[in-house]
Formats: sequence, structure tokens, C-alpha cells
Amino acid sequence: MYFPESIQQQCDDLTHLLGTECFPFSYSESRKNLSGSSDCQFVSLNVDPAQALAAMERCKKQNKFQLWDVLDGTVSYVIPLVHREEEDWFAIGTMRDLPRSVVQKLVSTSFAASRRQILIESQDQILLDAELELSQSNSERQWLRQLNLQRIDRKRGAHLPKQALETLRNIIDAEAIAISLYQDIDVGRHGLESMISGKATWSLDDVRLLLQRISKPGLGDTAILNNRDNSLPLAQLKSCIVVPLGVPEPIGYIVALNRRRQAGMSKPMNFTEFNHRDGQLMHDAAGYLLVDGHSNVLFQESEKLVLGMLRTMSNAIEARDPYTFGHSERVGRVAYEIAARLALSEVACQEIYVSGVLHDIGKIGIPDHVLLKAGKLDADELRIIQQHPEIGHKILEEFDKLKFALPGVLYHHERVDGTGYPHRLKGDSIPLMARILAVSDAYDAMTSSRVYRNAMGQERAIEILQNGLGTQWDEGAVMACINFIGDTQLVTANGTTESSPPDANGERWQLSHALRVLQL
Ligand SMILES: [Fe+2]
Repeated sequence: MYFPESIQQQCDDLTHLLGTECFPFSYSESRKNLSGSSDCQFVSLNVDPAQALAAMERCKKQNKFQLWDVLDGTVSYVIPLVHREEEDWFAIGTMRDLPRSVVQKLVSTSFAASRRQILIESQDQILLDAELELSQSNSERQWLRQLNLQRIDRKRGAHLPKQALETLRNIIDAEAIAISLYQDIDVGRHGLESMISGKATWSLDDVRLLLQRISKPGLGDTAILNNRDNSLPLAQLKSCIVVPLGVPEPIGYIVALNRRRQAGMSKPMNFTEFNHRDGQLMHDAAGYLLVDGHSNVLFQESEKLVLGMLRTMSNAIEARDPYTFGHSERVGRVAYEIAARLALSEVACQEIYVSGVLHDIGKIGIPDHVLLKAGKLDADELRIIQQHPEIGHKILEEFDKLKFALPGVLYHHERVDGTGYPHRLKGDSIPLMARILAVSDAYDAMTSSRVYRNAMGQERAIEILQNGLGTQWDEGAVMACINFIGDTQLVTANGTTESSPPDANGERWQLSHALRVLQL
């Protein structure tokens, strides 16, 4: 005879409490047996089936255990068991050589203890359900938070969908999860590509085969397929969720394969099927991945545009004056290093770097005979060249995304003693960005060759910077620049010093990297 596991468990518990064996009986089965042949279990218990059935009926009515006397001082008992299905189950047993009152007490106590145990277990189950619910909600929240972090991070070059799939796979406890796009889909347009994450036994080919063989859900729908009747088309597939991706036409599907058995969960939770909640999460994930893909495409396009614009601008300055080739880029790099040594944030350092690259953009508006003149400039020419910060400011203020660079462009020729140009600002009223650029501009001008003179040595450059402390340049910026120079000096084998390239890795000084940090 088949006993539900929980019924057998209750009987075992009662046997343990009573100190004598009892057995599970179903009411309907016992009725059937009464009308036919006698049940061997009743026989072995030496219990009259008709009496047992009558006791079960009294039990049902009163929802309480029953006792009845059998011959030879044996007392029989029937205890109602708790079961969720339609069937009524009872534990039946006998006790010998004990006064009826003792049997009554024993059965009564065991019945109460068994009920309390069931109550505790059901409360445990409720708690477990709540915990599962909570942990799923938490996981969802965590997933969304992680996605958002990854989105921010992605602006520094991370690839989102693969990480998002892996996190989602862990939340819904799938063996694998995949994005499978139609073969003719333009991947670049949607910012998504076919990929699979999870157990190595699953491949994208499996997913494509599955998609060919099932009737796929339409847009807005979710298919949750569990293999109750061996209806799934792949031998190793026990359960799956299929959600279409795309608006207004599907471009592919997001698919979860095989729910993993959850270790450590109590038995009712130990399922291997996907549920409605998993389907809902997959559905939300599909929407999220789609939107994220599109915003990724837009982000990359906008990054390309701004990058192209910046490159064009900085090339334009260099093209006007080949003798200063590389100057803007170097000023940006040294300014970054000074800013970093002044403990400014990475974003502030990158802003200063970009401003440095663009600081002389206004020279585009200076006529050749002034800009390219090899000798000393006369007063008029000097007045003309001194307009370049304001011309640069005018050019850049048209670009919303580059407004952060304006203070550096406009004020990099101010002096802390108030004798600079264009506005004769003094001391701290000169924006820090400009005070830093003034130092890096001067340092690069001194240490690179010009048509009218050779580059001077580092030591001489440091001396000049120190002499200009508090008059031409900001003290903090000069000290940070001297620090930087010290950091780049390498002692060679023959004891002389040489400069190392300012950044061997190069990464943080790429314009494209700066744009990502600045989220342009
Ligand atoms: Fe300048």
C-alpha cells in the first residue's frame, strides 16, 4: 500500500512517542477492504476492521483520537493524522497489559505532541516559504542593483549582458541561461549578441534546437515548460523558460535551461521545475536587457561623436603649428599627474587632462604670421596671440559636454600675482584647473624643443618653476609638478638621469578612456 511520505513520518513519530508500533490506514481504503477481503494489516494488528472503521468515523467527526477495548486486556487506538489531500488518514495500533487510563493518557499526550510537531513544521514551512520569497526578492533587488552598477561600470568598458545573465542564472537557479538571436539580426543595432552562461554541457546549438522544436511564445508572453509528460524535445532538458526579446518584432529569445535542485531546502521546496515567479523575472530581464542594449548602442555612438570632435579639435591645433607637435597632449598628461598628486578625484583629473588637450584650441583663430613667427613678437602681435584663451573659450562654450574644460582654456595664462591674461585674476580666484594647466604648459614648453631654441634640462626647468612660485605659478601645483618630475626620473646604468615616459601603461591618458570616466 502507498503512504504519502508525511503520513509515514507522522506514524513513525507516534510510534516513537507511544513506545509501540502503529500503522497508517486510509479511510477509503479501509472501507473498500471491509466490503471485500480483510486487510492483512488489520489481521496482523489483531484488530477488527469493522470496529476500526467505526473508530475512524468517530475520529473524523470529533477530530480526536479514539480508544476501544479488544479481548485479552488489549486496548486499540486510532489517531487522526494530518494530510492536505482529500484522503483521511489514521494511525492505528494496540497496547497490551496496560490499564485503559494509562493508554488513554499515553495516546492523549502523543496525539497532542504529534499535533504540536505538525504545527511547528507547518510554521517552519511558512517561514521557509517567506524566507525563499524574501531571498528571491532580495536577489532580484541585488540583481537590479548589480545591473545598474554594471551599467555605470560599462561606461568604463565593461560588458554587461554576460554578467547580467550569470547573475540572473544564479537567482532563478538554472543550469544555463542564454540569449539566442535570429541569425540575420544586426547585432550592432541592438547592442546584444547570442551568448550562453552556465553549465558547459549546454551550448547555443542546444538552445537553437530547442527553439526550433517548441511552439514559441509571442511578444509579451512567457513560456514555462516543465517536463512532466516527457514533452520537451531534448533528452537532457527537464524544464525551461522561453521569453521573446524585441520590440516591435522579436529579434530572438532569452532561455533558461533546467532548474537546479536546491540543496538545503526542505522537501516541498526541493523541486526541479520553474515557477511563475521565475518566468516573471525572466520576462523583466528580457525587457531590461533589451533597453540596456539600445542604450549601449546610443552610448557608443555618442562616445564616437564626442571623441571624433575632440580629436579633430586637438589635431587642428597641432596642424597649425608643427613645431608644437604633441604639446597639447603632453600638457594634458602632465596636468593629470599634477592633479593626481594634489589628491583630486579621478573625474577631476580626467577633466583637467581633457582641458589640457584643448587648452590652446583658440590658436586656431590666430593668424599664421603671428602664430608661426620664429622671432620675438611685437606689442601688437603679443596682443593678438593673447586673445587665444578667449577665442578657445568661445569655441568650446558651444559644446555642452565640454563645458567643464572652459576654466582651464580661459585662464591658463593667468598668473597668481595678478599680471596674467586675459582677466588678470589673482591667487585662488584663478580656478585650480587653470593654475595646474599654467604649470604643466610652462613645464612642457621648457622641456620640449622649439624652432628658436633647444629643450632645457629637467633641473633647469625645476629651478625656473621654483623661482616663479607665488608670482607666476601656484605653489601647490608647482610642488606637485616637481614631485611628478622626480617620479619620472630614471637613473641609467652610467649614472646619468633620463626621463621615463610619463605613463607606461598609457590607458588613463587615452582620450577615449577620459571620455568614459567623464561619461561624455
Ligand atoms: Fe596657451
